[in-house]
Amino acid sequence: MDGTLSQSEQRPLRVVQISDCHLFGGTDGRLLGLNTESSLLHVLHAVAREQPRIDVILATGDLSQDGSPESYRRFQQHLGQFQAPSYWLQGNHDLTQPMVNVLGGASHLSPCLVAQGDWRIIMLNSSVEHEVPGYFQPTELAFLQQALEQTRGHHTLVCLHHHPLPMGCDWLDNQVVKNATEFWRILDAFDHVRGILWGHVHQAFDGLRNGVRLLSVPSTCVQFKPQSRDFAVDELPPGYRWLDLYPDGRLETEVSRVTGVRFDVDTSLKGY
Ligand SMILES: [Fe+2]
Repeated sequence: MDGTLSQSEQRPLRVVQISDCHLFGGTDGRLLGLNTESSLLHVLHAVAREQPRIDVILATGDLSQDGSPESYRRFQQHLGQFQAPSYWLQGNHDLTQPMVNVLGGASHLSPCLVAQGDWRIIMLNSSVEHEVPGYFQPTELAFLQQALEQTRGHHTLVCLHHHPLPMGCDWLDNQVVKNATEFWRILDAFDHVRGILWGHVHQAFDGLRNGVRLLSVPSTCVQFKPQSRDFAVDELPPGYRWLDLYPDGRLETEVSRVTGVRFDVDTSLKGY
């Protein structure tokens, strides 16, 4: 033994994914009856308790419900309790300019490329402001192409807001990235992407496509029922996803949900 750790024995990077917080300008804002500020704080409290060491936080869109500067300011303030850097991307409810203003520049906002140890993380903007379905502008696809060329030789995660393929929820599947074929055509030409992460669907999903892990995450507020034809709220509590990224390219991940708290969501509503 020479005392050197093999690749599989080295410490993985611990990533935390937070998504779909839907914060309002005021702290009393509610989505389907649920106070989104309060539910985010419960989720972050769980993160703080369960994650003693975080390397990077990924916020995958719909951080705000109303695009207000105040909602982004509070989101940033809440994440300030963690030492780890955070990177954000836009959801269909977000507005880029106030996000850039609060972040003090665009380097932590999509499109951006993050280097963490042996891994690379590509953050993409799949949102068109004031429109619900996902769509990649040509500049975004060009960024993806270039970032994948640049990251060859590194295990890589790709993050976006919308789901890039149908998930069996008819009403949500109308909002799949419209030009997902282009996205997959670019990705399929490379073999170093290990996982694709998204938000938007307010439910956990864990799948595989051509050896690439496909992952969605619960919202930090209301949850949507999987495999539902029409809009339907799920009574599961809010949560987040953690991922361990190993130097040899292995990826371990789980969703963690808040326990011991009652969340009053109005399940009778037919839309949001
Ligand atoms: Fe959302």
